[in-house]
Amino acid sequence: MSPKQRAAEAALAWVQPGMRLGLGTGSTAALFVAALGVRVKAGLKVRCVATSRATQAQAEALGIEITTLDDMPELDLTIDGADEIDPALRLVKGGGGALLREKIVAAASRSMLVISDDSKLVNQLGNFPLPVEVNSFGLGATLKRLESVMTGHGVPVSLSLRHSADGGHFVTDGGHLIVDCAFGAIKDAAALSDDLFAIPGVVEHGLFIGLASRALIGHVDTTSEILATVA
Ligand code: A5P
Repeated sequence: MSPKQRAAEAALAWVQPGMRLGLGTGSTAALFVAALGVRVKAGLKVRCVATSRATQAQAEALGIEITTLDDMPELDLTIDGADEIDPALRLVKGGGGALLREKIVAAASRSMLVISDDSKLVNQLGNFPLPVEVNSFGLGATLKRLESVMTGHGVPVSLSLRHSADGGHFVTDGGHLIVDCAFGAIKDAAALSDDLFAIPGVVEHGLFIGLASRALIGHVDTTSEILATVA
């Protein structure tokens, strides 16, 4: 069993009958959805909200009941992957481009369980370029403001507009663009979050601070657990 699969299957232990679940996006979340589908087929009753069209399609194909945050605005638990996880359970997410829906769903949940392999554990966030979701209107002005925020955080400017496999701009489920910002190291995640939100064209960014309460980390032969440290 791969480390991601191990983490995904371990997450099933946190799922109780009748729960309202948020389903994440990405390869690890897809493994969890597949494992959940087996339980649902065996009779488990849960209601879920998906964080992307891809996850919704996968879940529905497996017979998992999917609804919306309009019909079910509060969730018990969201299970999702991450691109980076620091010791305080702050995350970088959005490698798959679903960060906006992922954050909305996580914020609507009483708790967020992160599942990943141990390659995502870091002491300091920022090695993975931070995805920032932006409105396409005024892109040039937004990029300039992003450059200035990066300079203010003491890092050389390295922004890259995300492209899809066909060479066009990557467009999110919400119809926005993604700028990947290579910080190298994010020294003050909370201050960076504030500075990014002060840019009018920024819709959302991939820093998840204070949302995850537990992470299940798959290793080659075991699964470990990290709990959020209470400040
Ligand atoms: C999707 O937008 C991301 O936030 C994913 O959760 C993240 O990229 C982890 O993906 P993997 O599980 O594929 O590593």
